[in-house]
Amino acid sequence: MCGIVGFTGKQSAAPVLLAGLKKLEYRGYDSAGIAVENDGLISVSKVSGRIANLCEKTKDGALLQGNTGIGHTRWATHGAPTDVNAHPHISNDRRFTVVHNGIIENYMALREELIEKGYHFESQTDTEVVVHLLEMYDSGDFKETVMRTTARLEGSYALGILCADCPGTIYAVREASPLILGVGVGENFFASDVTALVAYTRNAIYLEDGEFAALTPNGISVFDCTGAPIRKEISRITWSIEAAEKGGYDHFMLKEIMEQPRAVKAALTPRLQGDEIHLDGFDYSAEELREIRKVVITACGSAYYAGCAGKYAIEKLCRLPVTVELASELRYSDPQIDSSTLLIVLSQSGETADTIAAMKECQKRGAKTLAVVNVVGSTIAKLADHTLYTWAGPEIAVATTKGYTTQLTVLYLFALYTAEKLALVSEEDYHRLLSQLQGLPKQMQQVLDMNTAIPRLAEKYKHNSSVFFIGRNTDYSVALEGALKLKEISYIHAEAYAAGELKHGTIALIDEGQPVVALCCNEMIAEKTMNNIIEVKARGAKVLAVAEKGNRTILSQADDVIYIPRVDPLFSAAVEVVPLQLLAYYTAKEKGCDIDKPKNLAKSVTVE
Ligand code: AGP
Repeated sequence: MCGIVGFTGKQSAAPVLLAGLKKLEYRGYDSAGIAVENDGLISVSKVSGRIANLCEKTKDGALLQGNTGIGHTRWATHGAPTDVNAHPHISNDRRFTVVHNGIIENYMALREELIEKGYHFESQTDTEVVVHLLEMYDSGDFKETVMRTTARLEGSYALGILCADCPGTIYAVREASPLILGVGVGENFFASDVTALVAYTRNAIYLEDGEFAALTPNGISVFDCTGAPIRKEISRITWSIEAAEKGGYDHFMLKEIMEQPRAVKAALTPRLQGDEIHLDGFDYSAEELREIRKVVITACGSAYYAGCAGKYAIEKLCRLPVTVELASELRYSDPQIDSSTLLIVLSQSGETADTIAAMKECQKRGAKTLAVVNVVGSTIAKLADHTLYTWAGPEIAVATTKGYTTQLTVLYLFALYTAEKLALVSEEDYHRLLSQLQGLPKQMQQVLDMNTAIPRLAEKYKHNSSVFFIGRNTDYSVALEGALKLKEISYIHAEAYAAGELKHGTIALIDEGQPVVALCCNEMIAEKTMNNIIEVKARGAKVLAVAEKGNRTILSQADDVIYIPRVDPLFSAAVEVVPLQLLAYYTAKEKGCDIDKPKNLAKSVTVE
C-alpha cells in the first residue's frame, strides 16, 4: 500500500510533491521518490527510507527544477525497499515515468513479453512494466498511449504518469485503488487521499474505477474507460488542515483517542432527529428489513473486532442471526449467502483489499451490502448498495481508535433503528437505549477525564513479555481489540481469551506474576468473570480489571482497577475500550516505540 501525489502549475513542483508525500507517509514509508519535467527533460530522485531522506537528497526539492511532477511513498509489496525499487520508475528512453499504488497481478507475463522485445528492467517491482508498456505503445498521443497501456494491466492500480513530450500534463488513472484530484486555480493535483490536498485546495474530484484524467495547470479532463469525456462533480473537502495535524498532542494516536467523544457525537448527532433515528445511507422500510434472514459482518483487524462487539446489539435487538467473518477468510470460503443476507462491511479506510474482495464475493452471491466506512468516496463506499459514513474525520495513526468506536456507534444505531422499524423493542426500551446511545460521548469523556492513573499502570506493566486479556460476551469482544492495540504499538505479545475457556487449557500458562487484563463490565455475567479472576489470581496472576463504577467486589481480587461509567452491556464496548487504548498508548510511549507508524504496519492494507 503506497501514497502517490501529482502537481502541475506555475510554481516549482518538487516542494509541493514533497509536502504532499509527508502527509501520505502513514500509507507507506519504506522508500520514496519524485519525478519532475522541465523543458522536455524528466529528472528523477528516489531513496529508500523515509521522506526525510528524499528531502535531504533533493535539498527540499531545490535540485529538481520544473512545474510538473509526480511523487510516491512506498510500502513494499514486490521487491525490497531499495532505491532501485522505489518509485517513480522511468522508461528506457527516459520519456515516460510513473508512480503506482496497488498490484499489477499480470506483471510477470508482461515482464517476460517486454524483456523478449528488448526492454531493460532495473527493478524487481510489478510497477516497472507500466513505463515500458508506455514506451512500447507510444503513438505520439499521450491519452491514447495511456489507454493502450492500461488496457494490458490486470489488478489494482492508481497511476500517476508524466511524459517528457507533454510538458505541463500529468495523467491520473484509477482502478481499484484510491485516487482523488485536487482542483486549484492555475494549478491542479492528484493524491491517494485528501490529507495531501487540503493545504492547497479543498475542491476535490473523486475518480471511480476505470476512470482517468488529464491534468494541466489550466484544467482537468476526466474520461471513462472508453476514453469518452465525462463530467464529474467537485466535492468540498471539509476536513481542516488542523484536523489532519496532531493538534498539540505528542502523537496522532493520542489526539485521535481524545477526539473520540467528538467523533462518536459526529456519528450520532446527524442521525438523531428528536426521538427518531434517520440512517441517511440506509433507508430500508420495515418490509425490506423483514426480508433480511441473516446478517454477516465482514472486516479485518480492529474493524473485525468492532463487528464482534456490534454483533451482540444486532442479535439482541433485531432478533437476527449474525456471524462475523474475517474478510481474508470469507473471500476464499464458500459462504451460504444469498439475497436474504445483509452483508455489513466495516472499514475505516474503505480500501482494505481483503475486505473489498470478500464484499465482491458476497455480492456475486446476491448479498445486499451496507458499508460502514470513514473515508468519503472510498472504494468500499462506492461498491456498496448502501453506505453509512462514520464521520470520524481523518485517522492518521496506523492503530485505529476513533475508527473502531465510530464503527461501533453506527452498528448500535443500525441495531436500534432496525428493532424499532420491526417493532421488536418496546417504547420504553427504545427510549432507554436511545438515551444510552446519546450518552456515549459523555461517558467516553468521563473515562478520558477520570483515568489519569493509566500512565502509571503502563509503567508498572511495560516490562512484561506477554499479557492476557480476558472477558465474556461483549467484554470478550473488547478484550480482542485491547490485545491487538497493545501488540501493534508496544510490540508486547498479548492474547485475548474468552474467560470461560481458560480452564480448557490456557490457564496452564498462568504463572506467578503473569499480567491479566480482565474486562468485567457486563453486569449480566460479571459474577462469572469474577470467578475467572479468582482462578488466575490463585495461580499467581497480576490482575488489572476494567469494571463499572460501583463494583466494589472487584477490589477484593484485582491488583488494579480501572472504572468506567455504567453503560447498557449492549453498548458498553465503545466505552470500555478507551482505557485499553490508553493503556496500549502509554505502554508504547514508555517503551519509546514509533507509536503512529508501528514497524511492518501500514494504515490501510490495500494489497492482499
Ligand atoms: C487496527 O489498529 C489496525 N491498523 C488494522 O487492524 C486495521 O483495523 C485493519 O487493517 C482494517 O483496516 P480498515 O478498517 O481500514 O479496513
